[in-house]
Order: sequence, then C-alpha cells, then structure tokens
Amino acid sequence: MGKTAVEPLIFEISRPGRCAVALPEPDVPPADLPEGLLREELGLPEVSEPDLVRHYTRLSQMNYGVDIGFYPLGSCTMKYNPKINEEMCRLPGFAYLHPYQDEETVQGALFLMYSLQEFLKEIGGFAAVSLQPAAGAHGELTGVLMMRAYHLDRGEPHRDVILVPDSAHGTNPATTTMSGLRVVEIPSDDRGNVDLAALRAACEAHGDRLVGMMLTNPNTLGLFDEHLEEIAGLVHQHGGLMYGDGANMNALLGIARPGDLGFDVLHYNLH
Ligand SMILES: Cc1ncc(COP(=O)(O)O)c(C=O)c1O
Repeated sequence: MGKTAVEPLIFEISRPGRCAVALPEPDVPPADLPEGLLREELGLPEVSEPDLVRHYTRLSQMNYGVDIGFYPLGSCTMKYNPKINEEMCRLPGFAYLHPYQDEETVQGALFLMYSLQEFLKEIGGFAAVSLQPAAGAHGELTGVLMMRAYHLDRGEPHRDVILVPDSAHGTNPATTTMSGLRVVEIPSDDRGNVDLAALRAACEAHGDRLVGMMLTNPNTLGLFDEHLEEIAGLVHQHGGLMYGDGANMNALLGIARPGDLGFDVLHYNLH
C-alpha cells in the first residue's frame, strides 16, 4: 500500500549538537534558571530543521486513506465511512474536545449524542441505546455479553448456546466464541431463509442451554427472512433472546423496526 520504506524514529536520526531552531541573540541580559529546574540529560532528540521537517513529512505520507486506495480489510463500519463523516468529526466543536473536560463545557456535544441515541431508539424500537461500541463486531460483543448477563441475572448460568445461521457474517460465530459461548449452526433452506425445521430441532435439542440466536435481516444473501416471526417465536419460547445484526439496517430504515419484529438486542453498522 504505497510507501513501504521503514522510517527511523526521530531518536534514531538524532545527532548530538544538532538543533532545528536558531534563536536570535537576546537583547536583554540572560537570567539563570532556578536551580531545581536544571537537568543535564533531557532525553530529547537533536535534529536539524530539514531532517525534522522531512521526517514528519515522510510519516504523513504513509497515511492510508480512501483518497489513496480501497480499504481492503478492517471494520466494515469504518471502511464504509463516507468522507463527509470525517469532515463532520473534524468540526472544531468535536475535534478540540478533551475527554477530561468539565461536563459543563461539553453540553453541546452531549446534547447531540443524547439526541442521536433518542433517534436510534425510535428507529430501532428499543428501550435504550449505547453509543459506546465503535464498530459492528464491537456492538455484537457488547450485545451478546448483555444477553449472557440477562441469563446470569435470572439464575441460569448454564445457558451457553447461540444459534447462528450458515449465512451469517463471520463476526457472529467469532463473537459467540469470544463471549465464551458455543455456536450451533442452523442451515438455510432452498429460498435462503433460516431452515425452520432445523431451527425447531436445534431449539428442542438445546432449549434449556439456549442464550439466543443471532440473525441478520435482510441476511447476507440480501433476503428478508420470510419466517421472522416464527423464528423469534421459537427462540423466545425456549427462553432465548433474539440478537439482531443490524449490518443491513439500511434496508429496513423507516419501513420496519427490529424491536417490533421480535429482536431484543441489535447493533447498527451501516453499509
Ligand atoms: C452482517 C455483518 N455483521 C457484522 C459485521 C461486522 O461489522 P464491523 O466490520 O464494523 O465490525 C459486518 C461487516 O461487514 C457484517 O456485514
């Protein structure tokens, strides 16, 4: 991806006695610094001005961005970020915030985040929204751990099975495993839906161990599952929760709300 040369650290190009600034002769008598503030060794790099400028310019040219090439790997949520999002997050009101700033001074940003949560609640049909997870897979992990916590809270720690359709994105089984749970794969039928007979059999086989099911709808084949209500009904009947992978939420936006369709938890990561 573009430049491959290894750029040395600024300390590696440091040479004793080099300096990037030449200050003019003082026009006032020099004053001694207070005793306690003097040190022999500061550990700062000593670099000439051209070396300094070239070092940081070369580093800046190693930045990989959408203007240079396609994003081949990484979080899809971030990969599909349009440039306008980058411009928005560079607005001074966001860019100059400090995480430890006094709450009184960040009321505008908090208002925007709160409003966004309220919009997403309404769009999804859910009781609450968190803006903490930073990408799709991060949202999955958060959601599945919440489902696990729900069962623990109800005194059912033995529940450890998540049903995952064979059409699911790889992050769904990965999330399940990372959460310390077991994946049971559910095949698709001829029309690309979840195979209902196989789902019923899995619910019966693992009913009392069921944490829930992860489902993307429309699924990764681009199909809206024709039996969504039956699927959610079966999982709920066996005490499981429905996790909605909202990667394809764009297709539902303003038409249907996952919370009304039987999902209990969902992440949004838009494509
Ligand atoms: C269906 C589905 N689920 C989850 C993810 C994971 O999202 P992210 O890459 O933002 O972690 C993706 C990414 O494409 C996806 O398509």
